[in-house]
Amino acid sequence: MPHSVTPSIEQDSLKIAILGAAGGIGQSLSLLLKAQLQYQLKESNRSVTHIHLALYDVNQEAINGVTADLSHIDTPISVSSHSPAGGIENCLHNASIVVIPAGVPRKPGMTRDDLFNVNAGIISQLGDSIAECCDLSKVFVLVISNPVNSLVPVMVSNILKNHPQSRNSGIERRIMGVTKLDIVRASTFLREINIESGLTPRVNSMPDVPVIGGHSGETIIPLFSQSNFLSRLNEDQLKYLIHRVQYGGDEVVKAKNGKGSATLSMAHAGYKCVVQFVSLLLGNIEQIHGTYYVPLKDANNFPIAPGADQLLPLVDGADYFAIPLTITTKGVSYVDYDIVNRMNDMERNQMLPICVSQLKKNIDKGLEFVASRS
Ligand code: NAI
Repeated sequence: MPHSVTPSIEQDSLKIAILGAAGGIGQSLSLLLKAQLQYQLKESNRSVTHIHLALYDVNQEAINGVTADLSHIDTPISVSSHSPAGGIENCLHNASIVVIPAGVPRKPGMTRDDLFNVNAGIISQLGDSIAECCDLSKVFVLVISNPVNSLVPVMVSNILKNHPQSRNSGIERRIMGVTKLDIVRASTFLREINIESGLTPRVNSMPDVPVIGGHSGETIIPLFSQSNFLSRLNEDQLKYLIHRVQYGGDEVVKAKNGKGSATLSMAHAGYKCVVQFVSLLLGNIEQIHGTYYVPLKDANNFPIAPGADQLLPLVDGADYFAIPLTITTKGVSYVDYDIVNRMNDMERNQMLPICVSQLKKNIDKGLEFVASRS
């Protein structure tokens, strides 16, 4: 009995590769994509008539099982199983979107930074494979693995330094760290506190809360001052909310008691991101407006896109930052630096400097790792 359904991937297919697909995030994310992406196809005006999920994991048994299981779900999205035995090449070849939740998750007492040594090795190897197998002038790479603050610099600088074909490909405009879970949490926690305190009658809508900076502890800056939700939070409530967004991941790590970190909420956040890229590539939308952690400078040390030149001095030269972006099929096309100008005094004078000083260390750690690799 086949454990995967692998139709020939034709010109009319959109292929999404998920690396680390047998893990906690990978499985749930693959399920959401397998079950839901057909609705994007229905809206599509383009010639793409098919979406394929290529699932890769170093755990061969697990990935075969996950793929067989998913392949029985009654949607027209096809799936295939890949592991080192058959090679990662078949998984990545012709992929338009590569999503990476591969690596080890946190255990209680660990910070995201503690994961660096193992996960940096994994990310740079996967980056080598992406550079060798994908069309660097087109592919989008979404990095979920932690620590995002350091691993996105690893992914970008490794590809640019070690793969000459990346030159002038613009790949650095299409590699993004996924910080969406922080935004999801900020929205959930704000709504919760509003309802608890009787501050809002709008119980059925979810607030938008911009979250910028990085994806760990105090590098996460939730901008409750710029939320669209009518709320009059007192100082204690605001402090509580900011801390809860910055350390929300610890609640899950503690509750799982050694059995990993956030997987289901992360899969939900990741799904929200991937579906936007699918929509973009199918031509259902012309641009994505979303927040990702990206390099602000390109391979030639020029600002990555309009708006990045204005942002760089505001963030004291930190050259990777999570910020609202406009993204087209070519990659980041605009950086919404003005969100920093709209910060209130506390956000700008207290939170931003702490974020930037920690972020710079995290970025340097990633860059030093790549520099030390022969
Ligand atoms: P997990 O341990 O359940 O799954 C990781 C999977 O990666 C495993 O199936 C493992 O076999 C696979 N893997 C390991 N090395 C690999 C390689 N070289 N190539 C392909 N696959 C490989 O972990 P979980 O909970 O799914 O978390 C994955 C990563 O996502 C962790 O680094 C975690 O910290 C991070 N994470 C990121 C979040 C974010 O907001 N960006 C939120 C939550 C977790």
